[in-house]
Amino acid sequence: MAEDEAVAADGPAPGPERDDGPRQRSDVSILFVGDLVGGIGRRTLLDSLPVLRERYAPTFVVVNGENVAGGLGITPKLADELLASGVDAITLGNHTYHRREIYQYLNAQPRIVRPANFLRSQPGRGACVVERDAVRLGVVNLSGNLYLRAGRSAFTEVEVALADLGSVDHILVDIHAEATSEKIAMGWHLDGRVTAVVGTHTHVPTADARVLPRGTAYITDVGMTGPRGGVIGVKREQAIESLLTQMPVRFETSEDDPWLMGVVISCSERLRADSIEQVLMPRPANA
Ligand SMILES: [Fe+2]
Ligand SMILES: [Fe+2]
Repeated sequence: MAEDEAVAADGPAPGPERDDGPRQRSDVSILFVGDLVGGIGRRTLLDSLPVLRERYAPTFVVVNGENVAGGLGITPKLADELLASGVDAITLGNHTYHRREIYQYLNAQPRIVRPANFLRSQPGRGACVVERDAVRLGVVNLSGNLYLRAGRSAFTEVEVALADLGSVDHILVDIHAEATSEKIAMGWHLDGRVTAVVGTHTHVPTADARVLPRGTAYITDVGMTGPRGGVIGVKREQAIESLLTQMPVRFETSEDDPWLMGVVISCSERLRADSIEQVLMPRPANA
């Protein structure tokens, strides 16, 4: 990251003008946290949020929750817990429907979204709008079409999802995809039309966070919030055994070396980002 970008990423210098004045409509930051993996991922988020709130004072917190229920899917109880903890919106991905009890919840709870390019007949919605401090944030979830099961094209359906948002101040798009190419293409496709395009699903953070020329913050993958000591969330011994033996192995979520991985996007103009900063931190030691 260039030095000038690093300065911008840290946000404006604290000063009496900023600290004493009321929050301006243009002074918005969005904390987006990558796939929460299991109970360890959820606890890492909850333990880290106070630190992150103090450090970044995010206007909005959005998390990907597709792996929060024991590594696969999400339940109403877990979604409620996340939303009650101050999370503004939850995005999902290919594990959306792993837990049957979430189906009705996806239709009823407006602050949780599954990929907009799933079939219309599948439970849930692909976009939502959340509001804080009189700022309206649209959140859109997409699935890649390569190696993932999504009934419709992310590139055509995103247009429908954006149109459905109506009038908003900022838009965050989580594209949950395997292929780096699809995510990069989506970043360029939406550059100048949304505030941020963030990639999820691989559970591995990429080193390409930047603001694209027309003002859209972009990263190919935010990474996961969970055990860095496993294999994308799974106990490493089990993942290695599966690869060694080519036989079925029961996977359990690792608890080893939990980290939070996310990004903070800062904005001072409608639908544009000033900066995107990666957040990669171990679970706080005093937790
Ligand atoms: Fe995924
Ligand atoms: Fe995931």
